[in-house]
Amino acid sequence: MVVNCDAEVQSAKCIEQSAKKNAMHHARSNSEERMKQELEKVEQEALEALKAVSDLAEGKALKTQYLGRKGAVTAFLRKISSLPPEKRAETGRLANEVKKRLEEAFEKTLQAFESDQGETAGDALDVTLTGRPIARGRLHPITQITQAICEIFQRLGFEIVEGPDVELDYYNFEALNIPRDHPARDMQDTFYVSDNIVLRTHTSPIQVRVMEKQSPPVRIIAPGKAYRVDSDISHTPMFHQVEGLMVQEDISLGDLKGILTTFVHQIFDEETSLRFRPSFFPFTEPSAEVDIRCVICRGKGCRVCSHTGWLEVLGAGMVHPAVFEMVGYDTDRYTGFAFGMGVERIAMLKFGIEDIRKFYENDLRFLEQF
Ligand code: PHE
Repeated sequence: MVVNCDAEVQSAKCIEQSAKKNAMHHARSNSEERMKQELEKVEQEALEALKAVSDLAEGKALKTQYLGRKGAVTAFLRKISSLPPEKRAETGRLANEVKKRLEEAFEKTLQAFESDQGETAGDALDVTLTGRPIARGRLHPITQITQAICEIFQRLGFEIVEGPDVELDYYNFEALNIPRDHPARDMQDTFYVSDNIVLRTHTSPIQVRVMEKQSPPVRIIAPGKAYRVDSDISHTPMFHQVEGLMVQEDISLGDLKGILTTFVHQIFDEETSLRFRPSFFPFTEPSAEVDIRCVICRGKGCRVCSHTGWLEVLGAGMVHPAVFEMVGYDTDRYTGFAFGMGVERIAMLKFGIEDIRKFYENDLRFLEQF
């Protein structure tokens, strides 16, 4: 409202109007002042509250409370329209400044929480995730089969014995009726450590070591490594055997057949038939090579059995009297049988493996299948 007062003519009306104007001005300044104070108060409050915020959600809620559509600052900005036009600009400017400052403060705080949350989420332990399984080791297939063989014989009353891999020529050959320069030595191509010491070519020396110490009855099996200069699809320079020996009064070839038949039926199955073929070993007489019906083709003939339908799995025989004499056993009173089998051969048949070298290549993809 504009009051036009002539300085010369101070009409009553004019005075009255002027007084009114003053009063109004006073009232307006007052309300303007109050609004400024209110604005300051809102800003202070908001900043205090923001300081106390402890997470992102709380911060967002607070932001809405002040800067949202129905927030305190927004409401304040609306109120400015009730101010007289000449004051609106000033108060509006102040209010917008406060709004801008608060927006910046909130942004800063919320951003800090957001990046914090990002970090915690990255490092956090997610208890709902399935755990990483601990890789468990397992027994080598040869160890598994050795154990299976030993268990069968243990149930039949055989005791497990072991002997040295590095063996005296005497135990490996001489005491087994294979004298030096005897042609039978050619059957086993030997790793010599020295003139008198060899890597044992079979587990048979353990028989002699046991009999030297123990008088009959003897019923043992001896699992272990053997070494021969040999390497191809069915031979490795190191391989495994299980030796068996049973000595007491009245042991016959029938006992040998019975024990080995029981063994074959248990390690393969009851349907697997056996065949005893006459053979020669210097330390047994008579000697036999034992074949089983091919477990792959059931005797029809396949690659594994070279189309014969039979697979050789062990050597056996009645202990030669010359061996008993070497250890001082009474050959009139005692008889016994012995056998030796290749563990790899049995493992290959049981697991259907065609190349013996796979056992020793340490390829986990192969080994983890057993
Ligand atoms: N030691 C013989 C071999 O390795 C196997 C065998 C053991 C034969 C006992 C007869 C008796 O070929």
